[in-house]
Amino acid sequence: MDSIKCFFVLSAFLMPHALAASSTNRTVIFIFYETLPEQSLFIRGGLDTNLHSGCDTDEVTGDACAIPMRTRLLGTIDHYDGYNAWRAGDNFLDWHGAEAGQGSFYGAPAEGTPLVWTTSNILSPAYQELNTFGDHYWMVDMEMDCPFVEADGWFDVKGYTAPASFGWEPDVTQTACDGTIGGVSPHASVNHMARCGAVNIFEHGGSACTINAFED
Ligand SMILES: *[C@@H]1O[C@H](CO)[C@@H](O)[C@H](O)[C@H]1NC(C)=O
Repeated sequence: MDSIKCFFVLSAFLMPHALAASSTNRTVIFIFYETLPEQSLFIRGGLDTNLHSGCDTDEVTGDACAIPMRTRLLGTIDHYDGYNAWRAGDNFLDWHGAEAGQGSFYGAPAEGTPLVWTTSNILSPAYQELNTFGDHYWMVDMEMDCPFVEADGWFDVKGYTAPASFGWEPDVTQTACDGTIGGVSPHASVNHMARCGAVNIFEHGGSACTINAFED
């Protein structure tokens, strides 16, 4: 057995629901938030803890609500240094802070899955093609295990702002979403509800939502 295969066999053994590379879909979250310079936005989330048992463990391995995923590279210039440092070793969207072994940035721990400030301004280093909206759209780009998500493909997301003194985003009351996919989540929640395999656009502390398909 070569070392690569050995790594995957070991990972599968250690992480009961680790990401299976063949069954992922690109999933993007945008959250509009005009942050202060010292703030960084993360998300926590996964399956709804009110609908599933076995989600109160502090360890993501064995947490029934933690969704296997990997974040995708959005850039290598220094604007993305925090995102890239914090996304290292982040293997799940979960309700807890940093995973064991997840990266830190200048000594600051990850507070969940990191987002990065983006703009629709093509002249900016923070430009992202999927951002057609404007400034202050924090973004994370993931390969997510959609089959692991509820059969209907909806999962919960809540902002968490670092430093941790800012913390959790307030509750929202999401109803029907606009967008080329849009729709209404079949479960009620005080969190944003997003669709796996889509581009999900929210506002921090706001109930509005837009869910778009990726354009081919
Ligand atoms: C995930 O991708 C596969 C293959 O492209 C597709 O058939 C499936 O509908 C996608 N699932 C979601 C939830 O977008």
